Amino acid sequence: MNILHIDSSILGEHSVSRELSQQVVNALRAATPASQVTYRDLAAVEPGHFSAASLAAAGTPEAQRSAAQQQEVLGNSAILDEFLRADLLVIGAPMYNFTIPSQLKAWYDRIAVAGTTFRYTETGPQGLCGGKKVFVVSTAGGLHVGQPTGVGHEELLKVLFGFLGITDVQFIRAHGLAYGEQPRAQALQAAAADIQRLELHELAGA
Ligand SMILES: Cc1cc2nc3c(=O)[nH]c(=O)nc-3n(C[C@H](O)[C@H](O)[C@H](O)COP(=O)(O)O)c2cc1C
Repeated sequence: MNILHIDSSILGEHSVSRELSQQVVNALRAATPASQVTYRDLAAVEPGHFSAASLAAAGTPEAQRSAAQQQEVLGNSAILDEFLRADLLVIGAPMYNFTIPSQLKAWYDRIAVAGTTFRYTETGPQGLCGGKKVFVVSTAGGLHVGQPTGVGHEELLKVLFGFLGITDVQFIRAHGLAYGEQPRAQALQAAAADIQRLELHELAGA
């Protein structure tokens, strides 16, 4: 099984989602020792906004690309290939200003490729990546699940992956981290319990 582990927190060693996403990957490695893990740190190597220059680079024939355009195209295809190869993704996704980090959105902008990961048909869009599984480590300072304030975070991630045909999206959650010492400890306990509850034995042999 190919696992793609992605972190997007900008908080480095203070990041909760980084710590938890690593714990999920450790549990996966233990349950599926033959699996291969690829790691991408979107804060360390930022994909950058998907821009007019990104589009122009993709639309320029290889022989005519500038060095910067060539770099853009190579970077984007590396991101896309990693995603296509992955059977399972573990994504650290903090809430920043009511949504996912812009680095994570920029990553998604590189994997949402018409004709490769989705296509439009006469009856509407069709995701082409069904069968992949996603574990999202969702962290937030406040409590937003089921609230309008949470729509741009977990609900958005469900929409983004759903568009690509991925409906198996599970959340490992540490929320309320900014509410004080005790709520923070409870949030971390809840996340640890979420990790314990993951049904990883089903993946053994994959
Ligand atoms: C720039 C920034 C914006 C944030 N915005 C929100 C927010 O809108 N809502 C919220 O509940 N927490 C917010 N937080 C708190 C984070 O969600 C919380 O610190 C969480 O631990 C972040 O995950 P991380 O530690 O992996 O980066 C914000 C934190 C930062 C650094």
